[in-house]
Amino acid sequence: MHKLIETNGLTYYYRKGTKDEVKALDSVNMAVYKGEMLSITGQNGSGKSTLARHFNALLKPGQGSILIKGLSTANKDSIPEIRKIIGMVFQNPDNQLVSSIVEEDIAFGPENLGLPQAEIIDRVDWALETLNLEDLRREPPHNLSEGQKQQVAIAGVLAMKPECIVLDEPTAHLDPRGRREVLESAIRLNREEGITIVLLTHFMSEVVHCDRMLVMEGGAVKMDGSPEKVFRQSAEIKSAGLDFPVASQVAEGLRREGFKIKPDIVRTEELIDCLCQLKS
Ligand SMILES: Nc1ncnc2c1ncn2[C@@H]1O[C@H](COP(=O)(O)OP(=O)(O)OP(=O)(O)O)[C@@H](O)[C@H]1O
Ligand SMILES: [Mg+2]
Repeated sequence: MHKLIETNGLTYYYRKGTKDEVKALDSVNMAVYKGEMLSITGQNGSGKSTLARHFNALLKPGQGSILIKGLSTANKDSIPEIRKIIGMVFQNPDNQLVSSIVEEDIAFGPENLGLPQAEIIDRVDWALETLNLEDLRREPPHNLSEGQKQQVAIAGVLAMKPECIVLDEPTAHLDPRGRREVLESAIRLNREEGITIVLLTHFMSEVVHCDRMLVMEGGAVKMDGSPEKVFRQSAEIKSAGLDFPVASQVAEGLRREGFKIKPDIVRTEELIDCLCQLKS
C-alpha cells in the first residue's frame, strides 16, 4: 500500500539542552497508508500529540526524519505543499474558529489558498453538505454547541481538500452524542470521500472503528495492528494503561461463563451478531 506519511527514527526533545529537557518521541518508525483510518492511542504524555504535530510540520524532527508523500518537513520550501496534504483538527474548536459566521469560517482556508471565488463557494457548500451543517451556515459559531463547533472546525479543514485529516482528541470535550456525531463524520469522510484519517483518542469505542491502531508508550510506538490483533495482546494492553473495548470485556465474561463466543470481538455489533447466532 502507498505510504502517505513515513517516519524514520523520529526523535523529538522539548526544551533541548536545558535541565528540563523532555524526550517526547524516541526513534519512532511508523507509517500512515493512503485511504486508511488509523487511530493513535496511549496514556497521557505518551507522545501522541507530539507525533501528530510532526505530520504537518508544526514541529520539526530533533533526530530522524518524517516524509509526507516523499516531502521532508525539514525542507522549508515543502511546508506549504505538506499543509495542503495534511489538515489538522484539535481538541478545542474555539481555537480554530476565526469568523463570525459559520460559512465564512469554512471559507477561510480556501480563501487563504487563493482559489477563485466560484471554487470557494463550491467547496463551502460541499463541506457544509458533507457534514450535515447546511442549517447552521449563517449562524455565529459562538451560538453553536461544542459538538457543532467541532463539526464546523472539521468542515473548515475539509474545504481545503486535504488528502489526510489528523484529529487530535476531537471529542475530548464533547458529550456522548457530540462524540458519536464527530466519529460518524470521520468515518464518513474516510469511507465516502476517501480521505485518510488519523484519529488520536483515549476512547476505545472510537479505536475499534478504525482499520488499524498504534499504541504509544513513553514516546515510542509499542503496538501496531488491527484492533482485533492488538487487543488480543492483553498483557501489553494493560501495561500501556489502556482499557479493553466494552464488547471485548463482555465477550470475555460470557466465555468464562461457558458461552461459545468467537475470539477477537472488539465491536458491539459483532457481539450482538454472535449472541443472535447462539440464540437461533
Ligand atoms: N510544549 C511542551 N513543552 C514541554 N514538554 C512538553 C510540551 N508538550 C508536551 N510535552 C511533554 O512531552 C511528552 C509527550 O507529550 P504529548 O503531549 O505529545 O503526549 P500525548 O500522548 O498527546 O498526551 P495527552 O493524552 O495528554 O494529550 C510529555 O512528557 C509532555 O509532558
Ligand atoms: Mg495529546
